[in-house]
Amino acid sequence: MDRWVEMLEIKDLKVAYGRVRAVKGVSFTVEEGQIVCLLGTNGAGKTTTLKTISGLLRAESGEIWFDGRRIDAQPAHEIVGLGLAHSPEGRRIFPRLTVEDNLRLGAFARKDKAGIAKDLQRAYGLFPVLYERRAQPAGTFSGGEQQMLAIGRSLLSHPRLLMLDEPSMGLSPLMMQRIMTTIAELQQEGVTILLVEQNAQAALSLADYGYVLETGVITLENTGRALLSDERVRKAYLGED
Ligand SMILES: Nc1ncnc2c1ncn2[C@@H]1O[C@H](COP(=O)(O)OP(=O)(O)OP(=O)(O)O)[C@@H](O)[C@H]1O
Ligand SMILES: [Mg+2]
Repeated sequence: MDRWVEMLEIKDLKVAYGRVRAVKGVSFTVEEGQIVCLLGTNGAGKTTTLKTISGLLRAESGEIWFDGRRIDAQPAHEIVGLGLAHSPEGRRIFPRLTVEDNLRLGAFARKDKAGIAKDLQRAYGLFPVLYERRAQPAGTFSGGEQQMLAIGRSLLSHPRLLMLDEPSMGLSPLMMQRIMTTIAELQQEGVTILLVEQNAQAALSLADYGYVLETGVITLENTGRALLSDERVRKAYLGED
């Protein structure tokens, strides 16, 4: 009998900055092989949630399980080593390092040289501009190119689950389409995706399942397709009256 494997399970997560609670008891799951979208307006707690999953922030309470293992007390570098990567909001590339050195930083937790070389080629294959300009300082890249670099870098950790925080932010429609196509290709290659997006149309078209986060709580969840035609989503995220 088939059984869904829950790759990521978040249970009643609460996260605060000092006395201000940004995530107020969030629970959701990501099943292996899926693209799951986390939707929400500014300040809803999306980035806080991703940072807590990847170990950059500590939860006040709640549990985070990855692959049947509880990870909410593990340091960030160990979480990357387990196969959970995070492409952060705002890119966070190193402008003075070359494109290739930026990519290689994504592999810091690995020792398998052959595997690293293979994933480097994969990143170059997905984004040829990274290959063409691999010896240039990353600071010379445009915003969209830096976004590709950030995604490429997260792939260098060879993740089984990749979390992307607003990968289309600041991108032209053409570039955004390219990123969305890349996300679909990654899913085809077997990478599970947790996608944070404000572009609801593009994200929900791609997502198997989605959650809507509002001021730190999940208010709605359904398949991507169902959310896309949900009146509440259309009003709040697709600008329809
Ligand atoms: N370092 C911080 N110190 C204090 N408050 C913070 C900090 N970072 C975030 N917050 C607050 O926590 C809440 C959630 O922020 P978060 O960045 O998770 O939202 P978000 O959903 O990612 O928003 P956006 O779509 O604008 O990126 C917001 O009210 C924000 O002001
Ligand atoms: Mg954010």
